[in-house]
Amino acid sequence: MNDIKANGTILIIDDIPNNVELLCESLDDAGYKVLVETNSNNVIDKIKYSMPDLILLDIMMPEVNGFEVCHLLQTEVTTKDIPIIFITAITDTFNKVKGLNLGAVDYITKPFRYAEVLARIQVHLKIKKLQKDIECKNIQLEKLTNNLESLVAERTNELTTTLNTLKQSQIKLIQSEKMSALGVLVAGIGHEINNPLSFILSNIKPAQEYIDDITHIFQLYQKYYPNPVQEIADELKTVEMEFTLEDLSRILKSMQLGSERIQGISVSLRNFSRSDTNIKVLADLHQGLDSTLLILRHRMKTFDKRPEIKVIKNYGTLPQIKCYPGQINQVFMNIIANAIDALEEAWEERAIQQPEIIISTENSNANTISICISDNGLGIPEAIIKRIFAPTFTTKGVGKGTGLGLSISHQIVYDNHQGHLSCVSEVGKGSKFIIQLPVK
Ligand SMILES: Nc1ncnc2c1ncn2[C@@H]1O[C@H](COP(=O)(O)OP(=O)(O)OP(=O)(O)O)[C@@H](O)[C@H]1O
Ligand SMILES: [Mg+2]
Repeated sequence: MNDIKANGTILIIDDIPNNVELLCESLDDAGYKVLVETNSNNVIDKIKYSMPDLILLDIMMPEVNGFEVCHLLQTEVTTKDIPIIFITAITDTFNKVKGLNLGAVDYITKPFRYAEVLARIQVHLKIKKLQKDIECKNIQLEKLTNNLESLVAERTNELTTTLNTLKQSQIKLIQSEKMSALGVLVAGIGHEINNPLSFILSNIKPAQEYIDDITHIFQLYQKYYPNPVQEIADELKTVEMEFTLEDLSRILKSMQLGSERIQGISVSLRNFSRSDTNIKVLADLHQGLDSTLLILRHRMKTFDKRPEIKVIKNYGTLPQIKCYPGQINQVFMNIIANAIDALEEAWEERAIQQPEIIISTENSNANTISICISDNGLGIPEAIIKRIFAPTFTTKGVGKGTGLGLSISHQIVYDNHQGHLSCVSEVGKGSKFIIQLPVK
């Protein structure tokens, strides 16, 4: 027998070697390496060592019979895939079925027809080879699928990140667009008011001086010409000249006060639109709060039957802080506008008598200042409070809210100023937004 045979190794387990002598020869002729095992004891260990491609197994053996050997081979991981063909003289169907049920692939009855045995062996070796190929292909396919899955997951992750970044940039764009449009408008109004106002203010003083001169001359006339002609005497009686001159002064004074107030508003408007700074600058946050309140004042006035929204300012002493003032004003604007919305809603639901916003500021410690903006509106339910800072989350109707105000405020406070923005609220007890900012 040759040691290395191209067609594979066949192990014959049969206790009587004479029975299979001729079979061995014809298998050898057909190009197989043939091993014969006559002792079925400890046969598994021997098989593990030789690892044949196929086993021809006799059923009737004295020590351990063929069925038992088959069972043992099938339960061993290393041998369970070796095809087993039973060879026996027993021809009844019961034993054939038993053998096949135990995991054998075929059944050959003695006496052998060698051509048939060879054909069966070839078929089963081919099936085994095909099975192995399929297994390899399956492993490759599984690897490919896994690779593909991780590739898809990776791509999905990348896409999700890109989408989120896009969303964030879009939010920033919308908000900065909104704010810069408002800033331009506000700055424009501030500027336009300023010119005619300076003109009025600069003319009030000379007007007062002219009136003083006229009054003085009038008094002189009265002193040196106490009895004027009849027509002047009649006119003086109807006009009440002294009262007119006194009132004229008062009118001028109130014009001056009014103009100065408009001037204050104009300064506030221009302060609000200081969003054009690219670097952090020192800013007075109270000024920012006041400018924002001024811009939102039209929304606080008595409306329909709703009383004016009362604003209580508990301003502490704040140092100037290094910040982007325009952005901080944007945060104030978003939070105060939300408070006004909440108060309007509470009023509509008849839940409050007097809408109120309290703004408190304090220098919490050497490094931090905090600003609290609270309202006595309806408050925020616990389930919603977790979501209010998420982009596009809104409980307001279509066209009323975009859901961007708090998310952009959060970004401004956290990312651009390394501060902290939080909300404390309870249904029926109003809401409180706390902004904490580092001083430097
Ligand atoms: N003071 C508040 N009282 C009650 N609910 C509030 C208050 N502030 C915010 N909310 C809730 O948080 C949600 C998100 O607020 P956010 O400012 O981000 O968006 P919005 O006000 O709905 O829309 P906009 O983009 O116009 O500001 C609001 O829809 C509202 O439900
Ligand atoms: Mg809002």
